[in-house]
Amino acid sequence: MTQTQLSSALAYVQNQQERFQEDLKAFVQIPSISTDPNAKADIRRAADYIAGRLKGLGFQKVEVLPTKGSPVVCGELMSAGKGKPTVLLYGHYDVQPVEPLELWLSPAFEATRRGDNLYGRGTSDMKGQIVVVLAAIEALAQSGGMPVNVKVIFEGEEEIGSPNLEHFIVENKDRLAADIAINPDSGMIGEQIPTITYGLRGLAYLEIRLQGPNHDLHSGMYGGAVHNPAQVLCELVAGMHDAQGRVTLPGFYDRVRSLDSEERKELARLPMDDAFYLEQTGAPALYGEAGYTVIERVCARPTLEVNGLLSGFTGEGQKTVLPAKAMAKISMRLVPDQDPEEVRQQMGKYLEARTPPSVHWELIKHAGSFASITDPNIPAVVAMSQAMEQTWGKRPVFKREGGSIPVVVHMQQHLGIESVLIGFGLPDDNLHAPNEKIHLPTFYRGIETMVRYFNILGEK
Ligand code: BES
Ligand code: MN
Repeated sequence: MTQTQLSSALAYVQNQQERFQEDLKAFVQIPSISTDPNAKADIRRAADYIAGRLKGLGFQKVEVLPTKGSPVVCGELMSAGKGKPTVLLYGHYDVQPVEPLELWLSPAFEATRRGDNLYGRGTSDMKGQIVVVLAAIEALAQSGGMPVNVKVIFEGEEEIGSPNLEHFIVENKDRLAADIAINPDSGMIGEQIPTITYGLRGLAYLEIRLQGPNHDLHSGMYGGAVHNPAQVLCELVAGMHDAQGRVTLPGFYDRVRSLDSEERKELARLPMDDAFYLEQTGAPALYGEAGYTVIERVCARPTLEVNGLLSGFTGEGQKTVLPAKAMAKISMRLVPDQDPEEVRQQMGKYLEARTPPSVHWELIKHAGSFASITDPNIPAVVAMSQAMEQTWGKRPVFKREGGSIPVVVHMQQHLGIESVLIGFGLPDDNLHAPNEKIHLPTFYRGIETMVRYFNILGEK
């Protein structure tokens, strides 16, 4: 690709900014909430929307392929030809639920601009990121052609742990064969801090259900007679951390790969200190495992979080009830080399040992995924570093992310390819929360970066 073609692609991005924003609005409008059993039709609409967009860009073999869950959208644009690398672009077109609705300042599925931000579910995680990369492909295709070959895989179940994607990848190895994967589902540390992610945590998501009496009881008639399952649940949950903030499940740390001093030094250089986390969260104080800095705890140490608790009467006013049931949703973020299945068994042992005979317990398994580390020295990452430097005028920082993206390990294991993990979202984008947004200037810089990136990759 010539310098003129690159300039014309970058000029195209400038000219089409408004339209790219409109593309994102149309995509956000589809409420593709993967965890909602009533959203199947919207999931399908989102898949069809993205398939339509790919066809419009000239992609071939565009297909909406069924799985046991949401469909996977594939397609390819192989116009660069045999001598050029093939990039596998990953994305997820599903989003998280939007409750509590009353906290949204504008409707979750009507992308709304306020100042420099566009608000709406999925604007940052990750419909906006998909639009960024497709916009870059459009700009290049309009300016002399894509400098690399592209295949895409867009799934609709990432936010529930990609339960059917591994099987899909195993069954479609040929269709997905590529040199490198681009995964724009990560993010940046700050508006002026281009960021490349080289590690993600894994996840073991579980649900604990306790049953005491076989129906709700009058708390005066029966309080003193039976053990309240809400109390038992609180005691169990409270016991999952010790005074040092360490997780007490038996064997939980056995496989945890320790941080070497080199990496600790690198992580310490990231501009993410206590003040950053206090500011981002609004919490009155920080909390975590003793002996580690906050960035180490988030990036490279396993944690256990209560995601939800439910028991008894939670409505307005009061009701004197002794509930029959109590439930907790609990997830553990994992680091190399923990195994989500082993962690589930550890929770089973914990409950076995600690639950009093006054309640029955049941452990339900939700998502499980392994942590990943990707090599930051591979040429495809170096190329990304160059593209970011050209866009922001400074080198990117390298970080490990506390969140999880199950596909990264599946691609390593079954396709033998590494992922370049990036994204143009910011820490205050309110991912998974009310008022999710994307910072539009960063969104546009993202498109520019991807134009430059594909260009650099094509020259190698
Ligand atoms: N995009 C996020 C992961 C992420 C968040 C990466 C922030 C970098 C910065 C992704 O969509 C996500 O939230 N994944 C889930 C996966 C889980 C359900 C297996 C997560 O991490 O909770
Ligand atoms: Mn995401």
